[in-house]
Amino acid sequence: MGNVLELQGMSMSFGGLKAVDNLSFSVRENEILSIIGPNGSGKTTTFNVISGLYEPDSGDILLQGESVAGLRPDQVHERGISRTFQSLRLFGNMTVLDNVLVGMHTRTKAGVVAAMLRLPSVRREEAAAKAKAQEVLAMFPGRFSGPRQSDPAFSLSYANRRRLEIARALASEPALLLLDEPVAGMNPMESREVMEQIKELRSRGYTILMIEHDMKVVEGVSDRVIAMDHGVKIAEGSYQEVATNHLVVEAYLGKRGAGTAS
Ligand SMILES: Nc1ncnc2c1ncn2[C@@H]1O[C@H](COP(=O)(O)OP(=O)(O)O)[C@@H](O)[C@H]1O
Ligand SMILES: [Mg+2]
Repeated sequence: MGNVLELQGMSMSFGGLKAVDNLSFSVRENEILSIIGPNGSGKTTTFNVISGLYEPDSGDILLQGESVAGLRPDQVHERGISRTFQSLRLFGNMTVLDNVLVGMHTRTKAGVVAAMLRLPSVRREEAAAKAKAQEVLAMFPGRFSGPRQSDPAFSLSYANRRRLEIARALASEPALLLLDEPVAGMNPMESREVMEQIKELRSRGYTILMIEHDMKVVEGVSDRVIAMDHGVKIAEGSYQEVATNHLVVEAYLGKRGAGTAS
């Protein structure tokens, strides 16, 4: 199977700090690849560069063989990369359904003016978008059924808000889904459920690149794992191979006591 994403020697600095240093890896079609590493190792920065928030200093990022390096976030989204954030970015006062519709925004064809005029073509597109949003919400059984779709996002439990964020990212049918710590802040029962849902996404054909600290989740869902430390990839392989790699063990031990391990 082909590579959906390919990072080739990507580097990204903030002032004098090399947050990501010559990073290369690929994500294969329909796999779940997890990135682990101590806090500050460059994981989120990697996501930020892939999703177009930052332009890399060097290297290339290929999505299905085409470079997306340096594109704006909306352009990267349009090409087929969706993401969730480490901290929630939902619109609290908007309904559950509208939060998902926002995820499709850059991928619907009708322009803003046409939408304001409410042309028939726009209404058809809206109906299709709504059906798609409901289909995506139905992937989380019992969580967003019927009337709950009209509830404001702020009224949801924390775990449901995180699920809603995943639903929003799925609404555009991305070729690649980036999940930044999807179970952060969840209790063990909730994270087990989200873990099952992530596996379900793979069985539906999605390709997922995930940052996660919870090793049970990483072990449970990952086809492959890469480990980063100080911006550098220090290991790559199966969960077992990476978790027992001495560089990885040292990277985590080294952070303990400094209060930054997680
Ligand atoms: N916008 C930014 N400006 C300056 N430094 C940053 C910025 N974002 C991240 N960093 C620094 O880059 C390094 C990597 O951070 P990050 O990618 O968030 O790590 P991780 O997600 O692995 O915890 C850290 O030292 C962090 O302080
Ligand atoms: Mg991070």
